[in-house]
Amino acid sequence: MAEAPLEPPRAPHLEPPWPAPQPYTPNVLRRLARGWRSWFGLLNEWDFRVALGELNLLGLPVFLVNEPSLVRRVLVEEVDAFPKHPYTQWILEPLIGRAIFSVNGEEWARQRRLVDQAFQAAQLQRVFPAMAEATEALLQRLEGGDTPIDIDAAMTQVTADVIVRTILSRPLAQGEAGEVFAAFARYQRRAARALVLRFLHLPAGLVQRSLRRDARVIRAWLEQAIAERLEAPAAAPANDLLACLIAARDPQGGGGFSPEELLDQVCFLFLAGHETSASALGMAAWLLALAPDAQERLRQEVRAVAGSAPLQPEHLRQLSYGAAVFNETLRLYPPVSFFIRERQGTATELAAAGRGSRCPVGALLTLSPWVIQRHEHHWPDPQGFRPERFLEQQKPEPFLPFGLGPRKCPGAAFAQQEALLVLAELVRRYALLPVPEQPPELVGRLTLRARTGLWLRLKGLVRT
Ligand code: HEM
Repeated sequence: MAEAPLEPPRAPHLEPPWPAPQPYTPNVLRRLARGWRSWFGLLNEWDFRVALGELNLLGLPVFLVNEPSLVRRVLVEEVDAFPKHPYTQWILEPLIGRAIFSVNGEEWARQRRLVDQAFQAAQLQRVFPAMAEATEALLQRLEGGDTPIDIDAAMTQVTADVIVRTILSRPLAQGEAGEVFAAFARYQRRAARALVLRFLHLPAGLVQRSLRRDARVIRAWLEQAIAERLEAPAAAPANDLLACLIAARDPQGGGGFSPEELLDQVCFLFLAGHETSASALGMAAWLLALAPDAQERLRQEVRAVAGSAPLQPEHLRQLSYGAAVFNETLRLYPPVSFFIRERQGTATELAAAGRGSRCPVGALLTLSPWVIQRHEHHWPDPQGFRPERFLEQQKPEPFLPFGLGPRKCPGAAFAQQEALLVLAELVRRYALLPVPEQPPELVGRLTLRARTGLWLRLKGLVRT
């Protein structure tokens, strides 16, 4: 029996626009056609109400796992029986080789031990100056003019600058990575199409060749940047993330990263470290422009905590409303909108909402923060922008923008610190105003992005 939706709260809240799901159709080909440009097109209204969705995709059993206990079973309790789906590796290999994100088993475990060690050695406190310098450079770029700006592009630039400074101890030069961003945007578009072709059992060779072409642009740039950084070791402080990745040694005897592995990891960390944060920061700024009350509350909080002094990590830790705004953004617009896993070993039963479904070996399981975090049985007022829900005593569940379990994102604290710093500085200096005549077109690809940009207007505030 279906549960009743949760009671909506009494006060009306902003319901920011989103690519709402399509009406249900049993026609799988029509759904795939809708998913050609954005994977959100594959979803229908029913997916946001069921505990477990089931579909036979031209012979491939596919499950949409929404029930919190099943989500935990797949991501936390039985990780070995539900490893990352081989399509993850297939779609990302041209770009990141066999880096941590897409591999499984002992190959993953060893890499995770090394990456965790490198992250620990690089320490958040120590990367803070890099974040502060990149944020200052962003503010300088934004100065002057009150014409609409594409905040998504601005956030892509600042987050790439942060991660380049963190990995390589040097800033990203203005215009330096334009070709790289363009290549990645093409990669994202083509990767989504390659997956649809794969589901349809159609040849994806042509698309794959273009994926390799785009990936080569990105990898060549990073390979060159690493070489330059290593040629001048004396000039660079020894504690950047590259140095920590090179120095990391597996305590279980697995050695360190080979030069090829190092390039794969840096490619992944560069992408993971800026693409997701850019998506989240762009959406957060856009939401604040739509919600002037939330924006003013955040501004007041920043002033109360730091006055006009330069922001420090201890100030950011006190921004509880700021953290709530960031979390609510990640709930409504999770940058990584879905994860895919494969059933391995033996067939099993997936039990949800009082019934069981047989899950054969090789079945594909989709876990989607996009669906789960807007699910009408998990969240009151699921489409409403209501940061306060993250301040209430009982922490909202299920909330998984950074994943769950052993494969949870190790960059979550890094991303949170960076986001709070950028948002706090932005609202301190500017009023963020909406540009209703240029609404965003949100697309779900490898990450959630705005296809034609996220436009808003900045009005300088008198400094107090
Ligand atoms: C708002 C920003 C970010 C979001 C929403 C995000 C989200 C995620 C998610 C959902 C996963 C796990 C996916 C799965 O289970 O299939 C993941 C993995 C990962 N993320 Fe992030 N991430 C963000 C920022 C970062 C940053 C800044 C870094 C590094 C500096 C980073 C490094 C990684 C790594 C290394 C993994 C792989 C973990 C593993 O497979 O063991 N992420 N991220």
